[in-house]
Amino acid sequence: MQKSGIVDKERVVYLPQDEMPTHWYNILPDLPEPLAPPLDPKTLKPISPEPLFRIFAKELVMQEVSAERFIKIPDEVYDAYVYLPRPTPIVRARRLEKYLATPAQIYYKCEYVNPTGSHKPNSAIAQAYYNKAQGIERVVTETGAGQWGSSLAMASSLFGLKCSVYMVRVSYDQKPGRRTMMQIHGADVVASPSNKTKFGQSLLKSDPNNYGSLGIAISEALEDCLTHENTRYCLGSVLNHVLLHQTIIGLESKKQFESIDVQPDVICGCIGGGSNFAGFAYPFIADKLKKETNTEFIACEPKAVPSTTRGVYTYDFGDAAELTPLLKMYTLGHNYQAPPIYSGGLRYHGKAPSLCLLINKGYIKSVAYSQTEVFEAAGILARTEGMITAPETAHCVRYVIDEALRCKKTGEKKIIAFNNCGHGLLDLQAYDAYLNRKLLDYEPATINVPKLVNQ
Ligand SMILES: Cc1ncc(COP(=O)(O)O)c(C=O)c1O
Repeated sequence: MQKSGIVDKERVVYLPQDEMPTHWYNILPDLPEPLAPPLDPKTLKPISPEPLFRIFAKELVMQEVSAERFIKIPDEVYDAYVYLPRPTPIVRARRLEKYLATPAQIYYKCEYVNPTGSHKPNSAIAQAYYNKAQGIERVVTETGAGQWGSSLAMASSLFGLKCSVYMVRVSYDQKPGRRTMMQIHGADVVASPSNKTKFGQSLLKSDPNNYGSLGIAISEALEDCLTHENTRYCLGSVLNHVLLHQTIIGLESKKQFESIDVQPDVICGCIGGGSNFAGFAYPFIADKLKKETNTEFIACEPKAVPSTTRGVYTYDFGDAAELTPLLKMYTLGHNYQAPPIYSGGLRYHGKAPSLCLLINKGYIKSVAYSQTEVFEAAGILARTEGMITAPETAHCVRYVIDEALRCKKTGEKKIIAFNNCGHGLLDLQAYDAYLNRKLLDYEPATINVPKLVNQ
């Protein structure tokens, strides 16, 4: 029998399966102040949970507003996690440390170790389960990079649900492998904007070459959900229930670090809608909110989609067609046309409200990078650790490398941990563009966010 904690203290930290956490962590009761309420898109008044039952499975809506600090993982979901497999290991990146000649220690949590290759199944499995348990026949969603879509397609096939995915057109063209994965799992996949919805038709009429955005794909998926019986919508990030499903990552990591008597000084992750970062960081932030640690938290985003570094902290819609409730968040405006960077999963105009509150209150720092900088960092990781990350993940690899090099200058022995949230084996076209110096860097000259609500 493998002993709890360490197999190779110098290199890989496992957590035995019988020590996998049995509950998710919900940060809402621990936030420094209550979240601003979501607003009804028509009346702009605070919305009650009931109207959302037509959009999401009921249990997911209840998790959205839950005041419970810990929520039990249903047995069926726990079982599916074990088969993913979970718990995932933590690796110490000793060869990267050596290459950088840094006194810092670098660890990463391996969330890419599952059939679809990212953190997304942690919520996809839970969402498919709750929909199935409620008797829903079909789920519909959007996907940017294809990581979320392929995870929901896989989870739907495991739980016997039909699944339709609106895939942002630029990713549909850039990542045909992801589309094939979803189709193998039995999902119906269309490029968004599409001719399947009224909203998509209206966009294609004015611009047949519209390359899409997550905001547009969300609008199409919502329209599809509202016009089909026994169908519910699933979202891959941003909402509280998604963030809390992802905390299995940080809860496992805490146990793993405790087992080797290590306390990270820096916790770092990339942010698309925020669930990846929150899933890793929130169980550690819980200690900072109780003033028990001084850990630094760093959220990394693209300069092309700088929601938290250049956006406005205000109420905005979650989608382009203005169908969703308004959320208070850092936003670039719901009609922001994110440039076609290869990190499709980070092309969302807004971010999760709890994450934005914690950034606004100074608990989390955010930083932004251009795609050339992040691919350079990903290349270093690949050549030292052997791991080719997803371009999204490479954003925090850039931060980790820069921080480790700062430590080299100051002599600090910081312990830096990041969430290795995706492999890049279906992103090789992007790596090819990087190697052939064809990557373009983008930054918006100005950002105009409409003021929708007087605050
Ligand atoms: C590999 C990878 N990492 C990170 C993200 C961003 O995740 P989140 O929206 O949870 O912040 C995505 C989103 O698709 C992704 O595919």
